[in-house]
Amino acid sequence: IDDTAVRATPHIFWHGSQVAPEARWRQAGQRAATIWLTGLSGAGKSTLASALEDKLVQAGHPAYVLDGDNLRHHLNRDLGFSPADRQENIRRSAEVARMMNDAGLMVICAFISPLRQDREMARQIIGADNFLETHISTSADVCEARDPKGLYKKARAGLIPEFTGVSAPYEPPLAPALSLDTGMLSLEQSCDRLFQQLARRFV
Ligand code: PPS
Repeated sequence: IDDTAVRATPHIFWHGSQVAPEARWRQAGQRAATIWLTGLSGAGKSTLASALEDKLVQAGHPAYVLDGDNLRHHLNRDLGFSPADRQENIRRSAEVARMMNDAGLMVICAFISPLRQDREMARQIIGADNFLETHISTSADVCEARDPKGLYKKARAGLIPEFTGVSAPYEPPLAPALSLDTGMLSLEQSCDRLFQQLARRFV
Protein backbone atom coordinates (compact mmCIF):
# COMPACT_ATOMS: atom_id res chain seq x y z
CA ILE A 1 0.00 0.00 0.00
CA ASP A 2 1.44 3.34 -1.03
CA ASP A 3 -0.67 6.03 0.54
CA THR A 4 2.12 8.59 0.90
CA ALA A 5 0.10 11.20 -0.96
CA VAL A 6 -2.90 11.07 1.38
CA ARG A 7 -1.11 10.68 4.74
CA ALA A 8 -1.40 13.62 7.11
CA THR A 9 1.68 12.56 9.08
CA PRO A 10 5.05 11.41 7.73
CA HIS A 11 7.22 8.61 9.18
CA ILE A 12 4.60 5.90 9.47
CA PHE A 13 4.97 2.50 7.87
CA TRP A 14 2.79 -0.31 6.55
CA HIS A 15 3.12 -3.73 8.20
CA GLY A 16 1.93 -6.57 5.98
CA SER A 17 0.12 -9.65 7.30
CA GLN A 18 1.61 -13.15 7.26
CA VAL A 19 -1.87 -14.63 6.98
CA ALA A 20 -3.04 -15.16 3.39
CA PRO A 21 -6.64 -14.16 2.56
CA GLU A 22 -7.31 -17.77 1.46
CA ALA A 23 -6.38 -19.04 4.93
CA ARG A 24 -8.89 -16.68 6.49
CA TRP A 25 -11.58 -17.65 3.96
CA ARG A 26 -11.07 -21.35 4.74
CA GLN A 27 -11.38 -20.68 8.44
CA ALA A 28 -14.48 -18.49 8.03
CA GLY A 29 -16.06 -20.80 5.41
CA GLN A 30 -16.70 -17.89 3.08
CA ARG A 31 -15.16 -15.33 0.80
CA ALA A 32 -16.27 -12.34 2.80
CA ALA A 33 -17.99 -9.40 1.13
CA THR A 34 -19.75 -6.16 1.98
CA ILE A 35 -23.40 -5.76 1.13
CA TRP A 36 -23.84 -2.01 0.88
CA LEU A 37 -27.46 -0.96 1.44
CA THR A 38 -28.21 2.55 0.22
CA GLY A 39 -31.56 4.29 0.28
CA LEU A 40 -33.68 7.01 1.84
CA SER A 41 -34.40 7.33 5.53
CA GLY A 42 -37.26 4.94 6.29
CA ALA A 43 -36.57 2.77 3.22
CA GLY A 44 -35.96 -0.30 5.40
CA LYS A 45 -32.15 -0.52 5.36
CA SER A 46 -31.67 -1.19 9.08
CA THR A 47 -34.54 -3.69 9.32
CA LEU A 48 -33.25 -5.61 6.34
CA ALA A 49 -29.63 -5.47 7.52
CA SER A 50 -30.60 -6.87 10.89
CA ALA A 51 -32.73 -9.66 9.38
CA LEU A 52 -29.98 -10.65 6.94
CA GLU A 53 -27.36 -10.66 9.70
CA ASP A 54 -29.57 -12.98 11.75
CA LYS A 55 -30.22 -15.29 8.79
CA LEU A 56 -26.51 -15.51 7.96
CA VAL A 57 -25.40 -16.16 11.53
CA GLN A 58 -28.16 -18.77 12.05
CA ALA A 59 -26.87 -20.52 8.92
CA GLY A 60 -23.33 -20.53 10.32
CA HIS A 61 -21.92 -17.63 8.31
CA PRO A 62 -20.16 -14.98 10.42
CA ALA A 63 -21.73 -11.58 9.70
CA TYR A 64 -21.93 -8.11 11.20
CA VAL A 65 -24.05 -5.00 10.61
CA LEU A 66 -22.56 -1.52 10.34
CA ASP A 67 -25.48 0.88 10.64
CA GLY A 68 -25.19 4.63 10.06
CA ASP A 69 -27.40 5.58 12.98
CA ASN A 70 -25.43 3.30 15.34
CA LEU A 71 -21.94 4.30 14.19
CA ARG A 72 -22.90 7.94 14.65
CA HIS A 73 -23.29 7.14 18.38
CA HIS A 74 -19.58 6.32 18.77
CA LEU A 75 -17.00 5.98 15.95
CA ASN A 76 -18.60 8.79 13.94
CA ARG A 77 -20.03 10.84 16.79
CA ASP A 78 -18.14 13.95 15.66
CA LEU A 79 -19.87 13.99 12.26
CA GLY A 80 -23.02 15.77 11.12
CA PHE A 81 -24.87 15.76 7.81
CA SER A 82 -22.98 18.27 5.66
CA PRO A 83 -21.70 16.78 2.39
CA ALA A 84 -18.15 16.71 3.82
CA ASP A 85 -19.25 14.98 7.03
CA ARG A 86 -21.33 12.42 5.15
CA GLN A 87 -18.32 11.67 2.97
CA GLU A 88 -16.11 11.17 6.04
CA ASN A 89 -18.83 8.98 7.59
CA ILE A 90 -18.77 6.75 4.51
CA ARG A 91 -14.97 6.72 4.28
CA ARG A 92 -14.46 5.60 7.89
CA SER A 93 -17.25 3.08 7.73
CA ALA A 94 -15.95 1.60 4.47
CA GLU A 95 -12.49 1.26 6.04
CA VAL A 96 -14.02 -0.65 8.95
CA ALA A 97 -15.99 -2.84 6.54
CA ARG A 98 -12.81 -3.64 4.60
CA MET A 99 -11.00 -4.73 7.75
CA MET A 100 -13.96 -6.86 8.81
CA ASN A 101 -14.02 -8.47 5.36
CA ASP A 102 -10.29 -9.15 5.67
CA ALA A 103 -11.01 -10.85 8.99
CA GLY A 104 -13.59 -13.11 7.27
CA LEU A 105 -16.88 -11.50 8.24
CA MET A 106 -19.73 -10.75 5.87
CA VAL A 107 -20.47 -7.08 6.47
CA ILE A 108 -23.88 -5.54 5.92
CA CYS A 109 -23.63 -1.76 5.67
CA ALA A 110 -26.78 0.34 6.13
CA PHE A 111 -26.06 3.94 5.23
CA ILE A 112 -28.18 6.45 3.34
CA SER A 113 -24.92 7.21 1.48
CA PRO A 114 -26.82 9.60 -0.79
CA LEU A 115 -24.08 10.57 -3.22
CA ARG A 116 -22.75 8.40 -6.05
CA GLN A 117 -19.22 9.67 -5.60
CA ASP A 118 -19.18 8.65 -1.93
CA ARG A 119 -20.47 5.15 -2.74
CA GLU A 120 -17.82 4.95 -5.46
CA MET A 121 -15.22 5.80 -2.81
CA ALA A 122 -16.59 3.01 -0.61
CA ARG A 123 -16.35 0.60 -3.56
CA GLN A 124 -12.72 1.53 -4.05
CA ILE A 125 -11.85 1.20 -0.36
CA ILE A 126 -13.55 -2.19 -0.01
CA GLY A 127 -12.56 -3.49 -3.44
CA ALA A 128 -14.96 -3.84 -6.37
CA ASP A 129 -15.01 -7.67 -6.16
CA ASN A 130 -16.21 -7.58 -2.57
CA PHE A 131 -18.66 -4.69 -2.83
CA LEU A 132 -22.30 -5.50 -3.51
CA GLU A 133 -24.23 -2.29 -3.90
CA THR A 134 -27.91 -2.79 -3.11
CA HIS A 135 -30.45 -0.06 -3.63
CA ILE A 136 -33.29 -0.14 -1.13
CA SER A 137 -35.50 1.60 -3.64
CA THR A 138 -38.63 2.14 -1.53
CA SER A 139 -40.27 5.27 -2.93
CA ALA A 140 -39.91 8.66 -1.24
CA ASP A 141 -43.70 8.75 -0.71
CA VAL A 142 -43.71 5.41 1.10
CA CYS A 143 -40.70 6.41 3.23
CA GLU A 144 -42.32 9.68 4.20
CA ALA A 145 -45.66 7.99 4.95
CA ARG A 146 -43.88 5.47 7.19
CA ASP A 147 -41.81 8.15 8.91
CA PRO A 148 -40.84 5.69 11.69
CA LYS A 149 -38.83 8.23 13.68
CA GLY A 150 -40.93 11.31 12.88
CA LEU A 151 -37.93 12.83 11.06
CA TYR A 152 -39.73 13.73 7.82
CA LYS A 153 -42.35 15.62 9.81
CA LYS A 154 -39.61 17.56 11.60
CA ALA A 155 -37.69 18.14 8.37
CA ARG A 156 -40.84 19.50 6.65
CA ALA A 157 -41.29 21.83 9.60
CA GLY A 158 -37.76 23.10 9.04
CA LEU A 159 -36.43 21.57 12.25
CA ILE A 160 -33.81 19.30 10.61
CA PRO A 161 -31.47 20.98 8.13
CA GLU A 162 -30.08 19.06 5.14
CA PHE A 163 -32.52 16.17 5.52
CA THR A 164 -32.11 13.64 2.70
CA GLY A 165 -35.00 13.67 0.26
CA VAL A 166 -36.41 16.92 1.70
CA SER A 167 -33.62 19.48 1.74
CA ALA A 168 -30.61 17.40 0.70
CA PRO A 169 -30.15 15.24 -2.41
CA TYR A 170 -30.35 11.48 -2.89
CA GLU A 171 -28.73 10.04 -6.02
CA PRO A 172 -29.97 6.51 -6.76
CA PRO A 173 -27.38 4.00 -7.97
CA LEU A 174 -27.20 3.65 -11.76
CA ALA A 175 -26.19 -0.02 -11.85
CA PRO A 176 -26.74 -1.66 -8.44
CA ALA A 177 -26.05 -5.37 -7.97
CA LEU A 178 -29.56 -5.63 -6.58
CA SER A 179 -32.57 -3.37 -6.11
CA LEU A 180 -35.20 -4.07 -3.45
CA ASP A 181 -38.40 -2.11 -2.90
CA THR A 182 -39.59 -2.88 0.62
CA GLY A 183 -42.94 -1.28 -0.27
CA MET A 184 -43.53 -4.19 -2.69
CA LEU A 185 -41.56 -7.08 -1.17
CA SER A 186 -41.94 -8.69 2.24
CA LEU A 187 -38.99 -8.61 4.61
CA GLU A 188 -38.54 -12.33 4.07
CA GLN A 189 -38.51 -11.96 0.26
CA SER A 190 -35.94 -9.16 0.37
CA CYS A 191 -33.81 -11.04 2.85
CA ASP A 192 -33.90 -14.21 0.74
CA ARG A 193 -32.77 -12.31 -2.36
CA LEU A 194 -29.82 -10.85 -0.50
CA PHE A 195 -28.93 -14.23 0.97
CA GLN A 196 -28.96 -15.79 -2.51
CA GLN A 197 -26.58 -13.08 -3.75
CA LEU A 198 -24.12 -14.18 -1.09
CA ALA A 199 -24.57 -17.93 -1.39
CA ARG A 200 -21.96 -18.25 -4.15
CA ARG A 201 -19.39 -16.88 -1.72
CA PHE A 202 -19.82 -19.68 0.80
CA VAL A 203 -16.87 -22.11 0.51
S1 PPS B 1 -25.30 9.29 5.57
O1 PPS B 1 -26.02 10.22 4.69
O2 PPS B 1 -25.03 8.01 4.88
O3 PPS B 1 -24.09 9.89 6.13
O4 PPS B 1 -26.33 9.00 6.77
P1 PPS B 1 -26.29 7.77 7.83
O5 PPS B 1 -24.98 7.67 8.49
O6 PPS B 1 -26.83 6.55 7.17
O7 PPS B 1 -27.32 8.27 8.94
C1 PPS B 1 -28.67 8.39 8.63
C2 PPS B 1 -29.52 8.44 9.90
O8 PPS B 1 -29.33 9.65 10.57
C3 PPS B 1 -30.57 10.21 11.00
N1 PPS B 1 -30.57 11.59 10.49
C4 PPS B 1 -30.56 12.02 9.21
N2 PPS B 1 -30.68 11.40 8.02
C5 PPS B 1 -30.63 12.14 6.88
N3 PPS B 1 -30.47 13.48 6.87
C6 PPS B 1 -30.37 14.17 8.04
N4 PPS B 1 -30.20 15.50 8.01
C7 PPS B 1 -30.41 13.43 9.27
N5 PPS B 1 -30.34 13.80 10.57
C8 PPS B 1 -30.44 12.68 11.29
C9 PPS B 1 -31.67 9.29 10.53
O9 PPS B 1 -32.11 8.56 11.66
C10 PPS B 1 -30.98 8.34 9.55
O10 PPS B 1 -31.32 6.97 9.74
P2 PPS B 1 -32.21 6.12 8.71
O11 PPS B 1 -32.10 4.72 9.26
O12 PPS B 1 -31.64 6.24 7.35
O13 PPS B 1 -33.60 6.67 8.84
